[in-house]
Amino acid sequence: MLQTSIESHQSFLFSLRSAMEFLLLIFLFLLAPLLLPASCQTVNGSIGETLLWPCMHKLTKKFVREQTYIYWQGMDGSSNPTVAHVYVKGEEEFLYQSSSFQNRTAIFFSQLEDGNFSLLIKNLMLDHDRTFIEVAFISDDSKENICQKTLHVAAVFQEPNIELSQASATCSTAGGYPEPEVMWLSTDNQGNEAILEPLEVKIDNNTRNGTFSVFSKANISGLKTVTCRICNPTSGECQTTTKDVSPAGTLFTGGIAVIVIVAFIVGIISIALCVICQLNGRRTSTG
Ligand SMILES: *[C@@H]1O[C@H](CO)[C@@H](O)[C@H](O)[C@H]1NC(C)=O
Ligand SMILES: *[C@@H]1O[C@H](CO)[C@@H](O)[C@H](O)[C@H]1NC(C)=O
Ligand SMILES: *[C@@H]1O[C@H](CO)[C@@H](O)[C@H](O)[C@H]1NC(C)=O
Ligand SMILES: *[C@@H]1O[C@H](CO)[C@@H](O)[C@H](O)[C@H]1NC(C)=O
Ligand SMILES: *[C@@H]1O[C@H](CO)[C@@H](O)[C@H](O)[C@H]1NC(C)=O
Ligand SMILES: *[C@@H]1O[C@H](CO)[C@@H](O)[C@H](O)[C@H]1NC(C)=O
Repeated sequence: MLQTSIESHQSFLFSLRSAMEFLLLIFLFLLAPLLLPASCQTVNGSIGETLLWPCMHKLTKKFVREQTYIYWQGMDGSSNPTVAHVYVKGEEEFLYQSSSFQNRTAIFFSQLEDGNFSLLIKNLMLDHDRTFIEVAFISDDSKENICQKTLHVAAVFQEPNIELSQASATCSTAGGYPEPEVMWLSTDNQGNEAILEPLEVKIDNNTRNGTFSVFSKANISGLKTVTCRICNPTSGECQTTTKDVSPAGTLFTGGIAVIVIVAFIVGIISIALCVICQLNGRRTSTG
């Protein structure tokens, strides 16, 4: 009797423990997205912009200018070593700077001792995309790597253009960077909104300057309006174009075109008739 009671007590404790472990696991799982960005941070900007690559760090030891080397360095998008800026014993040193950062960087010289290691990058280029930068802080007797952050550069897409044909619509845009997300939305005649699965999505980066072009096609039969949405993952901006595709709408614009053409032809004919009448009148009066 006592034995079974102890056993059940133990099994109760055991299940309590596994339940706690399970809860802890769920807790960590929920927490993970919050912890993740801290370890792989991104700094995003747009082409042509001046971007602040922020870095604050409390130094453990006194900052002694004459003994300090600071390198803002890392790897470019193709994993080649890159040097963005160099500070050596109280002076900036441009000899080892990578060409993609020449004449484009600035540091906050007088604030280094306060722990402001931010880097200003002027006139961002697409070449700067996916550049990993960290600060190597080296003094006579120690070395620290701080502020690991990856730079991302966006270029804005042109406003998407929708063209209609028989039963489909095409959406196209170009000049943006990086590869965008393409999405179609629709409304039917009852006003219901829905996501429209495209028949085709083609994204090319063959343009000379490395930007992307987008071409997509969707089935529009039975719909009232379609919207083509192009979203830039780096800038977070979306561009949309909406077009009325309902047969009633096209019939209406078609109707207007027919009326205009008929009016035009009637006008021409009446002018011609007038001219002929006048010529005839003159001929009869002179003859
Ligand atoms: C560093 O100094 C610059 C210039 O004063 C300032 O704009 C920036 O906000 C400071 N702090 C950080 C974290 O960049
Ligand atoms: C940076 O500026 C100097 C002086 O104006 C110039 O000689 C050099 O070619 C420039 N470098 C780049 C990569 O533009
Ligand atoms: C790249 O080229 C396309 C067309 O060829 C143009 O529309 C776009 O503005 C250019 N973008 C950049 C960043 O040079
Ligand atoms: C752009 O296209 C080339 C091939 O034309 C490819 O090697 C490269 O990876 C593409 N770049 C991106 C960012 O997709
Ligand atoms: C377009 O949609 C209509 C109605 O949903 C369907 O009957 C037709 O087969 C579709 N056409 C294509 C090319 O998928
Ligand atoms: C910055 O750009 C990267 C790459 O496109 C993207 O994954 C990230 O979500 C962007 N960050 C922000 C804050 O928009």
